[in-house]
Amino acid sequence: MFALTAMNHSNLLRFPFPPFPDSWYALCWANDVNPAVATPARAFGRDFVVFRGADRSVRVLDAHCPHLGAHLGHGGAVVGGEVVCPFHGWRFSGDGRCTAAPGARKLPVGKPLRSWATREVHDRIWIWYSSDDSAPTWELPGTLLDPGLKWPTSERLVRTFPSHPQDVIENAVDAGHFQYIHGMSTVGDSETSYTEHGLTTRLRATTPTARFGVPGQSLSGTITASAYGMGLQTIHTVMRLPKIGIDINTFVIESVTPRERGEVTLLLSVHMARLPVPGATWLAKRSFVNAVAVDVDADIQIWRNRQYLDRPRLTAADGEIGRYRSWAKRFYPRVEARMAAG
Ligand code: FES
Ligand SMILES: [Fe+2]
Repeated sequence: MFALTAMNHSNLLRFPFPPFPDSWYALCWANDVNPAVATPARAFGRDFVVFRGADRSVRVLDAHCPHLGAHLGHGGAVVGGEVVCPFHGWRFSGDGRCTAAPGARKLPVGKPLRSWATREVHDRIWIWYSSDDSAPTWELPGTLLDPGLKWPTSERLVRTFPSHPQDVIENAVDAGHFQYIHGMSTVGDSETSYTEHGLTTRLRATTPTARFGVPGQSLSGTITASAYGMGLQTIHTVMRLPKIGIDINTFVIESVTPRERGEVTLLLSVHMARLPVPGATWLAKRSFVNAVAVDVDADIQIWRNRQYLDRPRLTAADGEIGRYRSWAKRFYPRVEARMAAG
């Protein structure tokens, strides 16, 4: 008991900002949501039920039935686009209203279950979190993969570990760690640009092919890392294999969800565009997926053990980190409003 309390306490103190920045976050993979069965999900230390309405669009409600508290996502059925409680059969529509209560003389009165703003994009179900319950203020990007290339099915990786979305997204602008953590042999100057809700960093890099299980050569090209709010990061690389003269295009979509205070889950989809050499894509993609798993686990080793320093000793080589941290304050509008009010 003491250990648990001590751990929660240290998570609360670990980051000097709120645990859940305002953003879109992925709750689960879209194809985990079976049309006939309710799906449980968890984020922001809360429980949700996910299901598909009659029009097949996805609905997300607070999970616990107002009758006697059963979790609608554990054993609940979906009938006519409504979720049916597994305990005594109360039914709820996508907007959270109770539409049937078997055995009751009239429909129970009371607040509907909270219904969350949802999107289904990039193979995931997303919900909008805001600290003051306001409506979404921006949208997730549409197409991410270059439609001019052929992208065979992606591979998936899932990781859960102690961290915070802002700490994970900071990785995108930290060009300094690419050589040490990700085994790149050279890393050029990076250029980062920010918008209201996103950022993009571009740099040139060289990496030994040994990282992909083929010793003796080097790949060189560009890496573009982008973030959309605090819940989505993408890494696009175009690397040239000089001996053969072909470009290898890879694209990693990484959603970052604060599951609990101080704990995040990453859902990664790893894509590689079809190579012009017959039969090579499958093998190359397998090596790339293995390299991504090694890379993400190396990052996680840092994230899970790192102390967040509010006043780090930055050098000229870390220029972007200070800018990133100032920019990231916009995802905590209540803190910003309190500071502005003095
Ligand atoms: S707890 Fe849901 S119907 Fe009774
Ligand atoms: Fe990294």
